[in-house]
Order: sequence, then structure tokens, then C-alpha cells
Amino acid sequence: MNLSRTDFPPDFTFGVATSSYQIEGATQEDGRGQSIWDTFCHQPGRIRDGTTGEVACDHYHRWESDLDLIAGLGVDAYRFSLAWPRIQPLGVGAVNEKGLDFYECLVDGLLARGIRPYATLYHWDLPQALQDQGGWVNRDTAERFAEYAALVGTRLGDRLTSLATLNEPWCSSLLSYHLGAHAPGLKDRRLALAAAHHLLLGHGLALRTLRASGVQVPLGIVLNLNPTYAATEDPADQARALADDGYSNRWFLDPLLRGEYPADMWKLYGQDVPEIRPGDLELIREPLDFLGVNYYTRTVSTASGPVMPEEAEVTHMDWEVYPQGLSDLLVRLKREYPLPPLLIAENGAAYLDERTADGQVHDLERTRYLQTHLNAVAQAIQAGVDVRGYFVWSLLDNFEWAYGYSRRFGLFYTDYATQERLWKDSARWYRHFLNAPGNAT
Ligand code: NOJ
Repeated sequence: MNLSRTDFPPDFTFGVATSSYQIEGATQEDGRGQSIWDTFCHQPGRIRDGTTGEVACDHYHRWESDLDLIAGLGVDAYRFSLAWPRIQPLGVGAVNEKGLDFYECLVDGLLARGIRPYATLYHWDLPQALQDQGGWVNRDTAERFAEYAALVGTRLGDRLTSLATLNEPWCSSLLSYHLGAHAPGLKDRRLALAAAHHLLLGHGLALRTLRASGVQVPLGIVLNLNPTYAATEDPADQARALADDGYSNRWFLDPLLRGEYPADMWKLYGQDVPEIRPGDLELIREPLDFLGVNYYTRTVSTASGPVMPEEAEVTHMDWEVYPQGLSDLLVRLKREYPLPPLLIAENGAAYLDERTADGQVHDLERTRYLQTHLNAVAQAIQAGVDVRGYFVWSLLDNFEWAYGYSRRFGLFYTDYATQERLWKDSARWYRHFLNAPGNAT
């Protein structure tokens, strides 16, 4: 594949991404409060390999050398998240200055290295004290979130390039409260839909509060979008694909961009739909300066559930490699919604990376994955979609939630015994792609 940086607009942003709980460790240090993931990881059977984020990549202590790695890649930007319980240990009231100081140093360290900071306020590590009050099922959590957003915005807003409220609210609502796979691990659709509504409200309230406090940074939200395809022309398969799309994608896209929940899903959910108060939908539709899209795979639906197409190539997550899904998705978003500029806030793949006899990690599959997906982004841009940036998930192997450390998404290999970071071949490829003028791959 002949793809080079020059196939993208000159001001297109290339970056790498991480999140707080997945890399920081130091969960008990400098006044950090407990998060729902600390609690969840200690419940037997929740995490496949029985691990926790207590140490993770020890990034809290190694952030400076990690910033050097990022600089070494030659990326323009770094996307990271802030741990709410470091900043407000109980999720309300008093600020833990050491928490804010940490992120201030991180941001200044990025700027000193010429890397633009793209921050996310919430990547799933809710203060446990708020969960004790019901977490996102409690409408008050939305108000608490807006207060926390204002704290961060007023302290760091002058130096951030971009600020996202939520990362993947589908995960922090449906995956966490309905499917039970993520913290807090509940299985109740009614509670999950309430959580989703309050997450979206929190997002809207945060945008209003940040704007009212004069924060000038571009503000947005990041969604995981999973395009669904009917396996056949059979109307039953088609209907299921539409419902799967409603569950994963439209339940978030429609209120954010159109100010309404999708009518078909509202009907399907019956008694489980959330309580909407006057003004909620206007708040949720507060204008976005950007929409972040995380793309990994697609779903192929049949009336009896999802299927894996024959001959599909899969990653170590058992997710199908389907780059066409990304260009289809971007083109569809433009066709169906009034859109702000888009960012691919995450894209990447887990593979069974092993150090070979030469001590290296030859992850050709990951490089191919990134190349084909970047190509899909370039195609969408050619088709007229306004995409402004692309971030690889992830900078380094890290705590992959319910999979613990058993899945590796990094451009850098993390040796958890020594905390050594090692350049995988994909990291070298990305550096080459970014830095060779007029380069071919
Ligand atoms: C999306 C999430 O934002 C991130 O935390 C996770 O590690 C990746 N998907 C891979 O599953």
C-alpha cells in the first residue's frame, strides 16, 4: 500500500492515545480517591487475569520518559485522560491540588516537547464515593461532572488544544450497567439507560459550564461507533442490524446531534426508557466543536445475533479487521447528521505480541491494520468528510479493562516485570510514516 502523510491535508493531526486508569498506576498516591475500577478489579472474576490498575504502566512516575517516547514518534498530539478521583477524591467539593498539579506538569511537559495536548475528562474512572450514591444512575452525578469539568477547564484551559467530556459513553452505560462487563458490573437495562441519559446530560452541562466560565478550548465528546451490517437481505436480519445500530450508535448520535432519542429504539425499550425532564434534550444537543470517533470493528447482524463472516481476519480481541467499516461509517455520518469536524480519537488493534529471539516485536499485522485504516480515513476525506485528526490506540501496552494485561494494543511493548518500553515494528513504521517527507510505505 502506497500511503504517505501527504495523502492527508497539511494541517491534519496525527497522534497517539491512552487513558488514566489504564496506564497511571499509583492508585493510592498523592491523595487520589478510590475509583469504581479499583473496586471492580478487586471483585473476584471481574478481570480475566485477576489483575488491577494499581501499578499498570507506572506512568504516574514515568510520565517524563513516556513523553520522550511520544516525542520520539514524531506525532503532533497526545490524547490522554484525567482521573477525576485524583482531582476530586470524593467526586465533589474540595480539590486535591496534587492531582491537578500532576496534569499541569503533564500538559506543560507536552507543550515543552512541541506536542499538542488533547485531554478527556472522563475515561471511566468515576470516584467510588459517587458510585456509592448510585453513580451515573443518579442524576446528580451529571451536576458533579460539570463542576469537575469547570475545575479542570479553568486550570488547564489556557494550554489545552482540545477537551473532550466523555470517552465512549456507551461503555460507561450499557457495557457497565446492562452487559455487566465493566465497572460497576450491573445487568439492568433500565438502570443502564438512565446512566446513559445522565452521562449525556453531564456532557451537555459540562459544555455549558465550560463555555460560561470563558474556556476557549474546542470542546467535544468521543463515541465508540460500531457500524452494523445485515448478514443477508432477509428482512429479519435487516431489522436486527437496525436495532443493533440503535443500541450501539444511534442512541448516542441522535440526542447529541439531533436533540432526540431514536423513535424505534424508544419504542423497543418500553418501560426501560429514561426519565427526560424539560430542557434535557436541548442541553444534550449543546453545539460540539468536534466529534471524536473511536473505531475498531463492525458488527454483522442476523436475526439470531451477531455472526463472524467466514474468512474474516480477526485481532486478539476476536474483533474482525474491517477497514471499509471506517470509511462507510464516516461517509454515513456526513450523510445522516449535521456534523462538527470529526477526529478519529482511537483506532488500533491487539495482537499476540511476543519478543522474538532478537528481542524485538515484529508486529506486522498491527502495521497493516494501521495502514489499511488510515487509508480508509483518507478515502473518507476524499469523499468530502471533514476529518481533522487520527490517534492510534495506544501509545503503549496497558491495562485492557476486563482483559487485564492479556491484550496488547501498544505501539510500544510494555515489559510489566521491568516497566521497560520497547519499540515495536509498528511504532517504527508510524515514525517513518509521520516523518519521512513524501514517504511511501
Ligand atoms: C476503547 C477504549 O476507549 C479504550 O480504553 C480501550 O482500551 C480500547 N477501546 C481497546 O479496547
